[in-house]
Amino acid sequence: MELSGQVALVTGSTSGIGRAAARLLAADGAEVVVTGRDAARGAETVAEIEADGGRARFVAVDLADVTSVRRLADAAGEVDVLVNNAGIFPFAPTLEQDPAGYEKLFDVNVRALFFLTAAIVPAMIAKGAGAIVNVSSNITGLGVPGGAVYSATKGAVEALTRTWAVEFGGHGVRVNTVSPGPTLTETVKATTAEIAEQQGKVSALGRAAAPQEIAEAVRYLASPRATYVTGATLVVDGGRLIV
Ligand SMILES: NC(=O)c1ccc[n+]([C@@H]2O[C@H](COP(=O)([O-])OP(=O)(O)OC[C@H]3O[C@@H](n4cnc5c(N)ncnc54)[C@H](OP(=O)(O)O)[C@@H]3O)[C@@H](O)[C@H]2O)c1
Repeated sequence: MELSGQVALVTGSTSGIGRAAARLLAADGAEVVVTGRDAARGAETVAEIEADGGRARFVAVDLADVTSVRRLADAAGEVDVLVNNAGIFPFAPTLEQDPAGYEKLFDVNVRALFFLTAAIVPAMIAKGAGAIVNVSSNITGLGVPGGAVYSATKGAVEALTRTWAVEFGGHGVRVNTVSPGPTLTETVKATTAEIAEQQGKVSALGRAAAPQEIAEAVRYLASPRATYVTGATLVVDGGRLIV
């Protein structure tokens, strides 16, 4: 129960990696603020956490709307662990990318993460402690056709991690990135399962990940076991990048 007495806000915790991370942080004693647009799936996450004996509440948010991001920060209150996990990953070849799709990717994957962090971090600084875990993707280290804008958003996330680690480190706030490889979340299973399986096959471990395997890295970086880790990008991709 190493997060006992702490509040953890996990964006995109109505499904996939975020839901798995919310469950692990709650199991470690944190009270978890579950967020996403889908209230029914939010209630499911809360119910799963409560069934495990944990504490959670759901706050609905559309991260594409920057006003809604501010409202989420207000509703969450003081937060000790912020996991910026929510993300969208529509692919399009560069020559077919429309400006609206480009903007949506940056709005959800970068702008929301930026302004949510900016709203949450002052209370962490005042307390002299806090852990922020951003979720990027190992696509930043690969050339994947159709993934130009998505990859650019995740590269931005990794750059923000390094900047924030330095801006906030002197105030006791650690900032790290988890960079997942192909992970069989419900969304991936329903949309790009074949690509994920194929990417998994060419990794060192020869398979795609389960959401919990990524969530374990989030749990570690959020925990007091990582007190000297900041500014790092922890690649959790079964060794895909080194093959
Ligand atoms: N799965 C993979 O293979 C993989 C690989 C590398 C990196 N990642 C990254 O890992 C993170 C999680 O991926 P996942 O596979 O777990 O995705 P997922 O199952 O599709 O979950 C995405 C989460 O983000 C939330 N979300 C999406 N758009 C939102 C919006 N406009 N406002 C508020 N919440 C929003 C969704 O909530 P609602 O639907 O309730 O709004 C959902 O909870 C993402 O950042 C993704 O880029 C995933």
